[in-house]
Amino acid sequence: MKFKVDLEGNKVALGDLFGVFFEDLNHGADGGLYGELVQNRSFEFSQVDHPSYNALTAWEKVEGDGEVRLIVETGNPVSDRNPHYLGMDIMKAGEDVGVRNLGWGKGIPLVRGEKYLFRCFVKREQCRCEPVRVSLRSGNGEILAEQEFCVSDKWQEMNAELVSTADDCCGKLYITAAGTGKVYLDFVSLFARNTFLGRRNGLRKDIAELLQEMEPKFMRFPGGCLVHDGSLDPDARDASYRWKNTVGPVENRPARRNNWGYNQTLGLGFYELFEFCEDIGAKPLPVIGAGYDPHHKREVPLEEMGPWVDDALDLIEFANGGADTRWGSIRAQMGHPEPFGMEYLGIGNEEVGEGFFERFQVIFRAVREKNPEIRIIGTSGPFAEGGEFDRGWESARRNGADLVDEHYYMSPEWFLAHHHRYDSYPKEGPKVFLGEYASWGNTWYHALTEASFMIGLERNAQAVGLACYAPMLANVDYVNWKPDMIWFDHYRAFGTPNYYVQKMFMKHQGKYQLKVEAMEPVQAAVLSLSDKISGALELSGYEADIVYSDISLVNDDTGEEILLSGCRVSREKEERVRVGVMDCSSYTLRLKALEEDGYRGFRIYFGSENEENEFCWTLGGWQNQDTLIGEKINGRNSDLCQHLLEIEKGRVYDLRLEVRGRHIATYVDNVLYHQVDSLPVVVEPLYLSAQESEDGELIWKAVNVSGQPCEAEIALSGESAYPVQEVEIICMEGFPLNGCNSFEQPELISPVKKVAAMDPSNFRLTVPGQSISMFRWKK
Ligand code: AHR
Repeated sequence: MKFKVDLEGNKVALGDLFGVFFEDLNHGADGGLYGELVQNRSFEFSQVDHPSYNALTAWEKVEGDGEVRLIVETGNPVSDRNPHYLGMDIMKAGEDVGVRNLGWGKGIPLVRGEKYLFRCFVKREQCRCEPVRVSLRSGNGEILAEQEFCVSDKWQEMNAELVSTADDCCGKLYITAAGTGKVYLDFVSLFARNTFLGRRNGLRKDIAELLQEMEPKFMRFPGGCLVHDGSLDPDARDASYRWKNTVGPVENRPARRNNWGYNQTLGLGFYELFEFCEDIGAKPLPVIGAGYDPHHKREVPLEEMGPWVDDALDLIEFANGGADTRWGSIRAQMGHPEPFGMEYLGIGNEEVGEGFFERFQVIFRAVREKNPEIRIIGTSGPFAEGGEFDRGWESARRNGADLVDEHYYMSPEWFLAHHHRYDSYPKEGPKVFLGEYASWGNTWYHALTEASFMIGLERNAQAVGLACYAPMLANVDYVNWKPDMIWFDHYRAFGTPNYYVQKMFMKHQGKYQLKVEAMEPVQAAVLSLSDKISGALELSGYEADIVYSDISLVNDDTGEEILLSGCRVSREKEERVRVGVMDCSSYTLRLKALEEDGYRGFRIYFGSENEENEFCWTLGGWQNQDTLIGEKINGRNSDLCQHLLEIEKGRVYDLRLEVRGRHIATYVDNVLYHQVDSLPVVVEPLYLSAQESEDGELIWKAVNVSGQPCEAEIALSGESAYPVQEVEIICMEGFPLNGCNSFEQPELISPVKKVAAMDPSNFRLTVPGQSISMFRWKK
């Protein structure tokens, strides 16, 4: 392939293009990035968080040669916002009587010679001289560090620095007391002294460093669905994430249900997240809810939006206001008198429906009026196309938002097929913030296809402002969602191939995008060869009992028609009833559908070669609110298009599916719902991007997805100031497509650095098959 890189033409500023997205799911915060080693430190775990939880989750009695009763009390807590605390009622004194905390996963990782900071509030029922003892112990109970305290009958904060005398990755924290009577504990905390940058209430060093090494330009936080799922009352135990609950002294931050099925202490709150952004040089990009919970269909009355507007305005003051402002002074008291310099604000995450957009507008207008300098981000829902996607973009354009948050999780083949997605996006108006995207997996193949797509993001920097892979973190012991960029357990962490791809693009993001032109026709290899959608047509229910009737399937190439009187499918058997097999390019299915009973609605499979490779028209998807066209390739689904549609039980729907080549149209009661193309999956011989760095370095990225090497010839147009030189080449190549990283081989699939003498004005290179290469040329 011959390419020309234009050194002098229109250079497009890349701005903050590549960043990261942090959400507390998969125990990304507590039990993850947040350095707290004690699980359930304030005894606030409850069934509100998870059906298996109670106030003593992760705590165990220690009875040694004595006897103790553990009672959870609420009469006089350290903080009213965290009402529970532990009473250890020692009925028979002994050497080793009290409680132990099990930590996260398989325990508390202890390292010989390392310091651990213990903090706890303690009191006794009566003033007694018998000591309370805190100790770090190995998994088999050996004491590795300990300290004793005398305790009064008033809450007292105890602090200790404990130094472990041995390594043990599965340690435990013990708190035991001599004598009898009640000893009370609240807010029992333990951090390694050696957190990221040694900060108090800090972050786990290994995970934080993996993120720092990426050099992200921004960090989106704290979610995700976390932002909008929950009660709209911030004081409710199951409240959605409200940032004001997450600042101030940690012991006063109220524990809340995390919508991913666990508890959040909010110890890693907005202050810590802003601080982390600053530490790693990423611009903070907070996202707030808009008084709208799409998961539970809750919305704040429009006339009661005041507190939600205040949340937005106060957040800007918290981040950017002077230390003499109300919220700026809270930031200053927490240790950061200087502003954090927040530039972006996201309002909402993936919400759909007019109710959200009305509320979005209220907050939007207030922020725009008071803080016109803030770049406001709207949302276009969780789908790449369709009615709600269009509604999100329309709202953003109408209101004058700066960016629109697009989200999609798709098959690697979808990413290949949609490499040119943004080529046709307008260069004026709101820009794209690709706030969540990933192909369904963490193998080298997934990472490689994502890299080819990222070349398309760079090429379209005029339309795409920001992009970040999602989700960021997963604790292997508590997985809610896969794939993820970084995996960890209670003491180890590793980056996936996707992580290394993201890192390459971030670390080597230039200041300007240069124009790259292919100098000969691009001969793309087509992976999905067919120009039609052929295969079986089958009817099923989606967690519902359905009666289908008046079924007609017409081969529109020949006019031939199959008629079926009808069938009943039951949700129990998860049946699929075959209507026919179509091998023609055009066909139409007409039928009537009635839901007798169930939760969702209808499923019509078409173009089905097998259950791993097929299309599906879903009606009544997710919480019976969507109609979707899904395309499954090799078992990995991509929702091509979405519209709102709720299926009512007992009502007969007239459905029509039309397939014309790879174009799909659907009608419900003669109203057009979907019109979408399944694009052919193609692999171009080389995906190439060229950029210029701040100090004039020339950066090339070349992604070869195909199995064949590509002979590349790259000419520079314009006056080249790049002499023949030793060039740094960073390369990922030679990995099996299904290869992954692991705790045992954390860097199996990661870039290597080489240096070679090269002449950029006459540049020829064989780019290996299935590789990503990056070159930097100095001026
Ligand atoms: O990234 C995982 C989840 O996917 C996010 O919480 C949500 O925004 C999306 O649906």
